[in-house]
This record gives sequence, structure tokens and C-alpha cells, in this order.
Amino acid sequence: MELKIDRDSDVDSWKEVILIYNSALKQIGIKLEILNDEFQHVHRYNPIEHIKSRIKTSESIVKKLKKHGYESTIQNMIEHVNDIAGIRVICSFTSDIYRIADMIRNQSDIKVIAVKDYIITPKTSGYKSYHMLVSVPVFLSDRIIDTKVEIQIRTVAMDFWASLEHKIHYKFEGNAPAYIKNELIDCARMVSDLDAKMLRLNEEVLGLSVETEY
Ligand code: GTP
Ligand code: MG
Repeated sequence: MELKIDRDSDVDSWKEVILIYNSALKQIGIKLEILNDEFQHVHRYNPIEHIKSRIKTSESIVKKLKKHGYESTIQNMIEHVNDIAGIRVICSFTSDIYRIADMIRNQSDIKVIAVKDYIITPKTSGYKSYHMLVSVPVFLSDRIIDTKVEIQIRTVAMDFWASLEHKIHYKFEGNAPAYIKNELIDCARMVSDLDAKMLRLNEEVLGLSVETEY
């Protein structure tokens, strides 16, 4: 499975497209860092624990195009694959997720194309996360290109769950035994309980005055 890159000009446009997606990732990454720093300055608190970003491999791009019945061309990948540039924002509390999403939404040069709230409506697997598909302008020397980036925002606990589920999904090629799937659903429930408890505890502690004896 390969992308249709036959001529030198295709190799050039592939490299250019990847450069643009990389630039879009950097752009969003910097924006998030600035928002986190500002938040730290104003509220003495970092909503973001850490950020991971990646460019989808050409193999995964081709696989996705095939799955949706598209020919493997650069044009099709730009039009139909929304997660070529992906950034994952990990935070401590569920409330941070919506705070970060709002801060992204309020950036005037970012366009929010779609939102999927898998926290309010988790997937049947138990998966929870907040997804935003956005576009960000990338300024080249002679043009500006609006570029799509998929942002996934989740808590540390949700991320822990998603990593294990992903590993299991991959190992069994999507057909994990029912008892393992059920265990994962159970773990997802525990993750939600833990997130809710930790949030409550944090809010309680924030409400205590420093003089309080404990
Ligand atoms: P994809 O074709 O997988 O990209 O799905 P989609 O286009 O319908 O988008 P969706 O928002 O549902 O999921 C996109 C991404 O979210 C995936 O590539 C994963 O990174 C993550 N994701 C979605 N569902 C699950 C899940 O059940 N388990 C895990 N571990 N990750 C998931
Ligand atoms: Mg994906």
C-alpha cells in the first residue's frame, strides 16, 4: 500500500504537504503553551499536564483512504483525512478539558470545524475524550494555507485507559475476547469515578483557606 507518488513533482508536493501539516502542529502547540503559561500567571495553576503531537504515517493515511473507498492521492488525503496532524492535550481534571477547549475556540484565527464530546457520550468501548477538528492558517512566503488539525483533549486517567485499550485493540486486531472488552468497560467506569472524585477533592481543597487546620 503506497501513496501514488510517481513523479518528482509528486514527491515535492508530498514533502510540501507534510511541511504544512507539521507547521500547523507547531502553531497549535505554541498557542497551547502560551495559554498554559498565561493561565499559570493569572491563576497560579497549569491546566495542561503535557502535550503529544504526531503526523499520521503514509501507511495509515493510505489505509484510511482505502477504508473510505478513496484512491490514494495527495488531493484525497488533504480532503478526506482529517487527522493527518494530531495533537493530544493531557490535563489533570475534566474541568480543565472544557477550559482548554474554550480557550482554543476563542482564538480568532482558529476555525472549529467539528467537535465530538466523547465525555458526555462515551464510545461503546468506554472511550472518553474531547475531540476538536480545527483549521489553523499556516503562513508561507507567498500564501496562507488553512490546515486541519485534530485535537484530542483528555485527562491523565482517560489517557491511561486509552493507551491500554489501544494496545489491546491492536494485539487482537479489533477482535478482543468479550471478557477483556467487558473488563475495559469496567475500567472505563472506574476512570470516570476516579476523575469525578479527584475533581471534587481538588475543588474542596481549593475552597479551604490556608489558615484551616488539618
Ligand atoms: P478514526 O477513523 O479512528 O480516526 O475515527 P473517526 O474519524 O470517526 O474519529 P473519532 O473522533 O471517532 O476518533 C479519532 C481518534 O480518536 C482515533 O484515531 C483514536 O486516536 C481515538 N479513538 C477513538 N475511539 C477510540 C477508542 O475506542 N479507543 C481508543 N484507544 N482510541 C479511540
Ligand atoms: Mg484517527
